[in-house]
Amino acid sequence: MMKKIFIKTFGCQMNEYDSNRIFDTVKKIGFEKTDVLDETDCYLLNTCHIRDKAKEKVYHDIGRIKKNFRSKKKPFVIIAGCVAQAENEEMLKREPYIDLVIGPQAYHKINPKIEEYFEKQKKLEETDFDAEAKFNYLNQIKNSSSKVSSFLTIQEGCDKFCHFCVVPYTRGPEYSRSFNEIIDEAKNLSFNGVKEITLLGQNVNAYNYDNYKLSDLILEIEKIPTIKRIRYTTSHPRDMTDDLIEVYGISKKLMPLVHLPVQSGSDKVLKLMNRKHLISDYIKTYERLKKINSKIEFSSDFIIAYPGEEEKDFNETFQLIKNIKFINSFSFIFSPRPGTAASNLKLIDKEISKERLEKVQKQLFEHQILMNKSLENQEINVLVENKTEENNKFFGRSEYMTSVIFDGNDEDVGQVIKVKINNSNQNTLFGEKVRKSEQKVA
Ligand code: SAM
Ligand code: SF4
Ligand code: F3S
Repeated sequence: MMKKIFIKTFGCQMNEYDSNRIFDTVKKIGFEKTDVLDETDCYLLNTCHIRDKAKEKVYHDIGRIKKNFRSKKKPFVIIAGCVAQAENEEMLKREPYIDLVIGPQAYHKINPKIEEYFEKQKKLEETDFDAEAKFNYLNQIKNSSSKVSSFLTIQEGCDKFCHFCVVPYTRGPEYSRSFNEIIDEAKNLSFNGVKEITLLGQNVNAYNYDNYKLSDLILEIEKIPTIKRIRYTTSHPRDMTDDLIEVYGISKKLMPLVHLPVQSGSDKVLKLMNRKHLISDYIKTYERLKKINSKIEFSSDFIIAYPGEEEKDFNETFQLIKNIKFINSFSFIFSPRPGTAASNLKLIDKEISKERLEKVQKQLFEHQILMNKSLENQEINVLVENKTEENNKFFGRSEYMTSVIFDGNDEDVGQVIKVKINNSNQNTLFGEKVRKSEQKVA
């Protein structure tokens, strides 16, 4: 009989990709997916360790599952992802309800581990770093994603050791997958009906396999006729090489939103963070890209109130935000992570940190609102992803990743169509499909 698995995912897109691939894997040993918690035989929590309270969130979630199954047969409980890697067997000791703890580089071992558990009822832990073995295994299992917009991991891990960040410890050293295997997976996704591919890596632009770079991958994937859009995330400013910048002038399918996390606008803070680049380098990259295509916009991640950030440094971040006019960005107060170089530094006063974050977010929201307003009464290109459940409208995304809700038709799903924007708010554009006869001639 088929067993059922319930997968819950926290964290970044790489975890989302991994969760899908874990499901592709466990299908081979007779699991099917369920969204109904009560009927699950296996509960898998894919965790994130990037900020505060990550560990507590996991134990809280397990507490909830325990309560739910109090009078029923307990499901097999797996903790995967970055908290699993950081905490390993400690988790089995602290919470006996957990049966298997498995790190992100060990997913190729998940089937034998599940089978072993069912044979021996033994608690297990698997947290070796072995990205090569993981991808050698996953390459043999088809990626079954058929969502219009899907992820494809090309690179894992990080060697940069920014002082605030757990990723080098939870995902291990940098590893790039083979060029041909990535292209095969992209072709397979297109065969499934995928129209947009987002290439993923903790340092996606550090991709390097036998001298093939991210720019080579973009240009090769672009040749797949049914793929309409290509994106990549997350990149590091130090790895914005000439070839990647130039590809913006060549590619027809690479979207004009560059997500390039700067973290801070102050050289002093960047140095304290061990980011190993200067603001002047970042601005140079911005100016070069704008020159290649003036339609390009930037988004970023910001860490506010990093230890040592003085008022002057914060003002430099604020000024950079105003100058670059970042859209679609993320900002967080610094959260000390165990085991990182910045874990024990003196924190900035909570009130000051909150004030700074609010100021930054207000400015970022303002850019978003202005950008969205500027699109009102314009016709924009939208990749249609699905029909919305509530009001029979359609959902898609602009070239800049902004959500678009509009009146359309079922056959638009998977197509890039023109939508006339009538209205907008901070996060969403609202409009209607432009019928062929109404379309403006460019
Ligand atoms: N590799 C990317 C880069 O170098 O910019 C970042 C990847 S990280 C998974 C995503 C974001 O989480 C970072 O850009 C940073 O803004 C945020 N982040 C990481 N560690 C953090 C911490 N200790 N406190 C607050 N935010 C953090
Ligand atoms: Fe973390 Fe990105 Fe720095 Fe690597 S480059 S340590 S993933 S913030
Ligand atoms: Fe979180 Fe791990 Fe991604 S810590 S952000 S799930 S790489």
